[in-house]
Amino acid sequence: MPIRLDGKQVRDAILASLRPRIAALEKTEITPGLAVVLAGEDPASEIYVRHKVKACEDLGIYSEKHLLPAGVTSEELLLLIRSLNSHPRIDGILVQLPLPGQVDEREILMAIHPSKDVDGFHPMNAGNLMTGLPGFRPCTPAGIMRMLEHYNIPVSGRRAVVIGRSNIVGKPMAMMLLEANATVTICHSKTVGLAEECRRAHIVVAAIGRAGFVTPDFVNPEAAVIDVGMNRLHDRESVARIFEGNEKKLADFASKGAVLVGDVHPAVFRNCAAYSPVPGGVGLLTIAMLMSNTVESAERRLARRGGTPIS
Ligand code: GUN
Repeated sequence: MPIRLDGKQVRDAILASLRPRIAALEKTEITPGLAVVLAGEDPASEIYVRHKVKACEDLGIYSEKHLLPAGVTSEELLLLIRSLNSHPRIDGILVQLPLPGQVDEREILMAIHPSKDVDGFHPMNAGNLMTGLPGFRPCTPAGIMRMLEHYNIPVSGRRAVVIGRSNIVGKPMAMMLLEANATVTICHSKTVGLAEECRRAHIVVAAIGRAGFVTPDFVNPEAAVIDVGMNRLHDRESVARIFEGNEKKLADFASKGAVLVGDVHPAVFRNCAAYSPVPGGVGLLTIAMLMSNTVESAERRLARRGGTPIS
């Protein structure tokens, strides 16, 4: 029977490990602080931002929400980032992506000081990961590494295939698996013989952004399959094809007009060693790792101060 890798369990373990660290910081009169910046009115981004702020509240992390109009200019955003870079209570700055089209996303991400870049998207932190130096690691792949650890899934010496090459998931995921001594292959939409590459893998991470893309012929029965895809399906035929016989999903679709589907076809989960599903898998870990990076940043603030409590 395949093992279901439960995102909730791993998230709770991550958050539980943060609580004593936050309490220790409080004793030195440091409260970790996160600024969340949202430009425009993308409904999905609004939900993500709400969850991030709520996670801060639950843990006792100070948070500030900066909501900017869809027409915001790069200059206005840069001004805000610069003020947050020098804000003494703010340890982490998160600019929710995607940004409105007129804003140069790269310029904005580059403006966040690497010491407050809790998303780990700044080229300095990407370079730190690449070269094995300390720095903030992107939250979703960092959460996946925690999940593999939590469930004692061996990584060292194993063949891992990452499907997808985004800066947010695919590339950093490959680097983290490599850092943990896996033999890593990065595949993508142009890869020839993709199913065959995946079939050789002990670990498959699917982050390509295509609903049900990874089918049973991609996976061998010994593999751990991690689904990172978050695809909202609106068309009845695709839903019926992917969820044939799944009365609950079909009823969900009938009532809501859309369902959330990962990059992995559900049939894969019947014939593998372990799987992390969507929803209920690694999506829950992204925010937990954001909290973890924010606490780590506050601990560095304390270290810069010399580690001494204010009396
Ligand atoms: N948009 C989708 N995922 C993410 C993320 O992990 N961080 C930020 N900042 N924006 C996102």
